[in-house]
Amino acid sequence: MDIQAIRNDFPILERRIHGHPLIYLDNAATTHKPRQVLETWHACYTQHNANIHRSPHTLGQEASDLYEQAHRGVARYIGAESWRQVVFVRNGTEAINLVAYSLMHGPSGRLRLSPGDEIVLTVMEHHSNWVPWQLARDECGVTLKVVDICADGTLDLQQLQAALSERTRLVCCTHVSNVLGTINPVREIGRLAHAAGALLLVDGAQSVPHLPVTVQELDCDFLAFSGHKMLAPMGIGVLYGRAELLEQMAPFLRGGDMIDQVNAQTATWNRLPWKFEAGTPDVAGAVALGGAIDHASGQRLVGAIDYLTGLGMEAVRSHELELTSHLLRGLQAVPGVRVFGPSSPEQRCGVVAFDVHSSGEFGDAHLIAELLNEEGIAVRAGGHCAYPLLSRLGVPGTLRASVYLYNTMAEIDRLLDVLQEIISHKLVALA
Ligand SMILES: Cc1ncc(COP(=O)(O)O)c(C=O)c1O
Repeated sequence: MDIQAIRNDFPILERRIHGHPLIYLDNAATTHKPRQVLETWHACYTQHNANIHRSPHTLGQEASDLYEQAHRGVARYIGAESWRQVVFVRNGTEAINLVAYSLMHGPSGRLRLSPGDEIVLTVMEHHSNWVPWQLARDECGVTLKVVDICADGTLDLQQLQAALSERTRLVCCTHVSNVLGTINPVREIGRLAHAAGALLLVDGAQSVPHLPVTVQELDCDFLAFSGHKMLAPMGIGVLYGRAELLEQMAPFLRGGDMIDQVNAQTATWNRLPWKFEAGTPDVAGAVALGGAIDHASGQRLVGAIDYLTGLGMEAVRSHELELTSHLLRGLQAVPGVRVFGPSSPEQRCGVVAFDVHSSGEFGDAHLIAELLNEEGIAVRAGGHCAYPLLSRLGVPGTLRASVYLYNTMAEIDRLLDVLQEIISHKLVALA
């Protein structure tokens, strides 16, 4: 990959922060958006703005067509059999809430949670894959079982296997941990879940942007992810589901566009995916994610997915692997730094959580992040919306550097140098 050419597509990378060139290493929180994707978003509003599925005029037809194409683009990217299995939502959180609500209010049978049912989670889930299931526990009387990690930061598969029983309805598992970076063996987890008669929901928020991911390879029943973590605007996310499940599941939100027939007392539901897309959707966001051909001009409106497939997800992964290896090696060599998660880069993505031990105390992650920011380096500090995991690790918070396709080795070197400087001089002076 030509990193300099890529960087030229991201105007924000030219910013200076406190007089220093911006080094953006907070990609697990959100990524920047390339010019091409921003132009697509702009074109949707300047050339094709209309509501979908209701207005017979040209703009209305164009917007409806672009929006449907965006579903097709996402379906191709994740290898879904049909674009109707792709539901646009606001973000990964909403996608998981959709499944949880639907299973709490579904038809009888395996698509409705009942007292005595069990849901298996892993201790490394993001809050968005915990809290909806806590609600399901409270409202439906299901039991939550939590699978631990091993000492090396990988999932304890034996414990997962032991947690499964004929009472398990659902296994909820992140593909990649947003703290440890661990890549979970989702296919194997799915095999175990399915053998127990359970469904598998995969949180792909940290994997779909960084790895080649297809739903066939994962063999999952549901996959949730967010556009903003993969070069698309904020406000668009995806739920993929197996068609036979989505067909039977109860709708989440109710109102316009998700109905087939309505009378004063009852309603019937529209076809997939519209049944789950009540109200006016984020058309521009969807097209900026999935891409589409503007039939009026014959031009391609480049979506984030076009941008990623243009580079090739294998190439993206291999670039990130190089950066991550370098970052891990570098951090491990800085005295006082403790890195969380697997030490082998192959077992993880480019999310690296660490803390700093100085003057006999573990340094305040927020203070160090602020000192890094003074040098133009953006990292995250805190609990990363994964408090159960942080509590399992026995730390109140960590620093977290996370890379993406536009980061360079020189940026990693600068992070390491500045961190070293902070530990050797600034923290001692502040102590
Ligand atoms: C693993 C994981 N799951 C889910 C989410 C939630 O994503 P969003 O805030 O876009 O809904 C995040 C966000 O950081 C995440 O890292």
